[in-house]
Amino acid sequence: MTQNAGILGMGHAYPSGVLTNADLEKIVDTNDEWITTRTGIKQRRKAADNEYTSQFAVAAGKQALERAGIDPKDIDIIVCATTTPDQILPSTGCLIQRELGCENAAGMDVFAACSGFLYGITMVESMIRTGQIRYALVIGAEVLTKYVDYTDRSTCVIFGDGAGAAVLGAVPEGKGILATKIRSDGRYEEQLFAPGGGTKLGTTHETIDNRLHYFKMKGNELFKVAVRSMAEISTEMLEKAGYSVEDVTMVVPHQANQRITDAVASRLGVPEEKMYSNIAQTGNTSSASIPIALDECLEAGKIKEGDLVLLTAFGGGVTWGATVIRF
Ligand code: COA
Repeated sequence: MTQNAGILGMGHAYPSGVLTNADLEKIVDTNDEWITTRTGIKQRRKAADNEYTSQFAVAAGKQALERAGIDPKDIDIIVCATTTPDQILPSTGCLIQRELGCENAAGMDVFAACSGFLYGITMVESMIRTGQIRYALVIGAEVLTKYVDYTDRSTCVIFGDGAGAAVLGAVPEGKGILATKIRSDGRYEEQLFAPGGGTKLGTTHETIDNRLHYFKMKGNELFKVAVRSMAEISTEMLEKAGYSVEDVTMVVPHQANQRITDAVASRLGVPEEKMYSNIAQTGNTSSASIPIALDECLEAGKIKEGDLVLLTAFGGGVTWGATVIRF
């Protein structure tokens, strides 16, 4: 016997620091008008030097557990989607597991850039559906501002920090995750990557002097692949779930860039008011963007019990995915 998996509670957290477009004007050759028209971003949250990814993940996870009413000891697995872990070893998932007191959980990380949260929920969905586990905590958490090169104006204006979390468990028939799919295409590696610091180009004086440990992005090329991929997989998942775009109450896309969100909406035929956006205030928080945005929708009552919601993401790798959920 199988059972549907759904979201039982969510939470999110940001650093208190804010980096506005005006602040960036003092760091690189840019201006508010360029950033606003090209990206829709007005400000992003920025961790302090002594703040790190797992702190925001733990704050978001704690809130999600409280709202779901689930004891930390009942969590079977913690999946932390992050591209900016606290450190290379151990995984951020293990650190979260310790801090939240999830004594019976396995902790692990998923490395799928901005699609990481959808990777996480897709993995645990099948584990819950088949009864292998009861409860999962999936967290998207990033401190991207520590991986951004503040001499490169084409990337440093985009990214921000934060975390969003969801507790998943079994839900009644007809509810929860109705269709979900994740994809990747490594041929596009160099559209968004951080080449230095791994086993291929280890951390040396040379890689650091050449700034190879920072994110590099070919924004223009990424833009086209992102729009096409998110639109196609969203249509495929809606069809698989047996619905059309008119049935959807809210689309919560990865907050990459307002122009990408607008282009996906136009391809799918979704009106602006059904396409959630918080990018003006948050910037692109990679794997954290969907759970933060989804939790904001739930808090604001934009998504209620019974509503059909479409999530779609695209990120470095490249990776992409879509999930259809009945709340
Ligand atoms: N301020 C001012 N000018 C800037 C700038 C900035 N912050 N960043 C780049 N420019 C300049 C470029 O140097 C270039 O100048 P040139 O014509 O003199 O060479 C010009 O603006 C156009 O650059 P281009 O890269 O073609 O701009 P664009 O319209 O593609 O916008 C992005 C750049 C990054 C905003 C856009 O490509 C984008 O958002 N792509 C998707 C990125 C993304 O979402 N990544 C995450 C995916 S998960």
